[in-house]
Amino acid sequence: MKEISSLAEAHFDPHWHNKYATLMAAGNGYLGIRATHEEAYTTQTRGMFLAGLYHRASEEEPRELVNLPDVVGMHIEINGEILILLSGKLLAYRRELRFATGELRREVIWESTSGQRYTLTSERFLSQHHQALFCQRIAITPHNCESRITVSTGIDATQTNAGRQHLDETEVRVFAQQAMQGVYRTRTRSGEAQVAITCACQVSPATQVSFSAKNRQLLQRSACMLQAGQTFTLEKYSLIERWLDDERPNAASQTSLAQLNACMARGYDALFSESETAWQAWWDKSRVTVQSENEDDQRALDFSLYHLAAMTPVHDERSSIGAKGLTGEGYKGHIFWDTEVFLLPVHLHTQPEAARQLLRYRWLNLAGAKEKARQNGFEGALFPWESGRTGEEETPVWAAINIRTGLRQKVASALAEHHLVADIAWAVVAYYQATGDNAFMAREGLDLLNETARFWLSRATEVEGALELHDVIGPDEYTEHVNNNAYTNYLACYNVAMARHFGRRFAQNDEAFIKRLDDFLARIRLPQPRPDGVIAQDDTFFSKPTLDLARYKASAGSQSILLDYSRAEVNEMQILKQADVIMLLYMLPWLYDEQVLRANLDYYEPRTIHDSSLSKAIHGIVAARCQRAELAYRFWREGCQIDLGDEPHSCDDGIHAAASGAVWLGAVQGFAGVVALRDELHVNPALPEAWTRVTFPYCWQGRKLRFTFTPGQVAILSDGPVTLHLSGRVVEVNGQADFFIPFAGSGTSQEGK
Ligand code: BGC
Repeated sequence: MKEISSLAEAHFDPHWHNKYATLMAAGNGYLGIRATHEEAYTTQTRGMFLAGLYHRASEEEPRELVNLPDVVGMHIEINGEILILLSGKLLAYRRELRFATGELRREVIWESTSGQRYTLTSERFLSQHHQALFCQRIAITPHNCESRITVSTGIDATQTNAGRQHLDETEVRVFAQQAMQGVYRTRTRSGEAQVAITCACQVSPATQVSFSAKNRQLLQRSACMLQAGQTFTLEKYSLIERWLDDERPNAASQTSLAQLNACMARGYDALFSESETAWQAWWDKSRVTVQSENEDDQRALDFSLYHLAAMTPVHDERSSIGAKGLTGEGYKGHIFWDTEVFLLPVHLHTQPEAARQLLRYRWLNLAGAKEKARQNGFEGALFPWESGRTGEEETPVWAAINIRTGLRQKVASALAEHHLVADIAWAVVAYYQATGDNAFMAREGLDLLNETARFWLSRATEVEGALELHDVIGPDEYTEHVNNNAYTNYLACYNVAMARHFGRRFAQNDEAFIKRLDDFLARIRLPQPRPDGVIAQDDTFFSKPTLDLARYKASAGSQSILLDYSRAEVNEMQILKQADVIMLLYMLPWLYDEQVLRANLDYYEPRTIHDSSLSKAIHGIVAARCQRAELAYRFWREGCQIDLGDEPHSCDDGIHAAASGAVWLGAVQGFAGVVALRDELHVNPALPEAWTRVTFPYCWQGRKLRFTFTPGQVAILSDGPVTLHLSGRVVEVNGQADFFIPFAGSGTSQEGK
């Protein structure tokens, strides 16, 4: 198997600090730590986040994922000069994140202002084995002179979320002249974080160690003299834990000190190999390997799966995945439909138990969703557009201020972007179809399907005997408050139909409810394609004028159109932020044939700016489904660039989690064309010409499969009998089987559009 890629930074450039801090962030689903440098730079935003630890700094502010006290920082002085790469001379620099193990390593040769040279290496990893454990190791070697080195490091609790301080420092202590411990409690006492740290220094002659606690910083200062060629090494072990709702046990402090000692006794390398083994297990069940003309395709796939592992809280069903994972403060750590639609499917086919858990998160928060429905005058469950730990609505009431007028506009999504309700139902069904998990469907699944369906029953408006959904926002957030958004109507219909179907199958629903479901299904308005195949995005969409979007598309992702037009003006034109009808065709692929797919792609894509990172990859998958492999490939590669591209600020405040899920979706569902259509698994590949081979594992209905596509051929390995629909043919596979299959990418595709 091809070696798992790395991400390298070959130059030190403060413009890129935050982008790399995001791209190279460490994560294990419990903790996320931004890849900031040990030294302090005003341009870099440090960040450490614990899944589920949200807090509201004041009544005026939305709740957000708390940016915790920093443990990464180290203040290093050499012969009295502060080591900072902006002064002196940087003779060599390289930083690399190895996706295989999550190890971040930096090598620097630095010349101080007085002309003395040093090699500095730093390594770190967040354990994939021991979720609370973060390990760092730095080594400093003077080349040509005797040097006095001092390193001060510990816990810096001056860290805030862009100035909003969530935590009170409630305890700081040094145990046995060795371990530092700080306890930090949210101001409303809803959560606590405990950080325990030990630093071990190696050098002879011995290091002098002292401790201090001042201004929310608990530090160990280690000092020593080094001869030229001698190396000072400092290993720092941090245990970062959280407790919610006053659940911190009395012995928490002692337990973590004991664990810390045990870790230190094992040492950096042994702890690293434990973590490496755990990473290996993830790669075994998820890695997509591709042979492509473009080397960076493999890197994009590895990057995406690395971050999927880093962001997914597999340890805790009360947490889900924020739109930025655990890599930054963006979107305040909130959870959107991104999780069910862009991330959950990846888990569903690599580690289905994680997909189940993500759905349990929603199920456990049903009470909040029911309450939101009730407050808005609806029945059933209206899940919050943005949520955190509790499942309450967390969408900020106000959008960013208009600094010319001083006015703020209300964020409409929480009020009208209701498709999320049906997206969750869609994911429940997808989970069941891929796993056949009857126990889940009989309980959590049906609760979710019924309560979401109940919402749609009450959400509909009767117009001349038909049922319509008025005043909604579809996935395209540039078109607000419309009637009969096609995506929403179809997904709502699917949601109700699935509640009807599974209610009957599990014999759970009463007659009166079934009657209401049937009535909805008989009367809901489903916008039909025009004779040319195009489906109206909503009732008024076709009546609006168009605009040449070329320059806005050229800066997709920046929302630059909002600098030229107000939101209200954009709303009155045929301008899409992101896939909408195309999103519908992606989600319910059995609805329409290739001709409709093509017609809508041709109509809507020129009207779509792709200002949301959720857009391009979906266009790519729909393009692949109508055998436009080269167009699909262009979209896919552009999607990969959202975070990995050369715009230095594209992901300063965190990774685009959905876009990284979409890298996998594009490869597996798009090019390989492996798609679940109801409870059948269909395979209709459309490989781009650049790809000569792609192989990946895939879980399906309790079987572990491996697909390998080469032009004109697919090899399938299954650990038991499985039925597949291969380009329309029904085939049985048990063990290894090879099939010839004509598809684009075998040198026949002419479509380069
Ligand atoms: C998109 C939403 C998405 C959110 C979080 C917005 O810009 O329009 O569809 O859920 O970002 O990623």
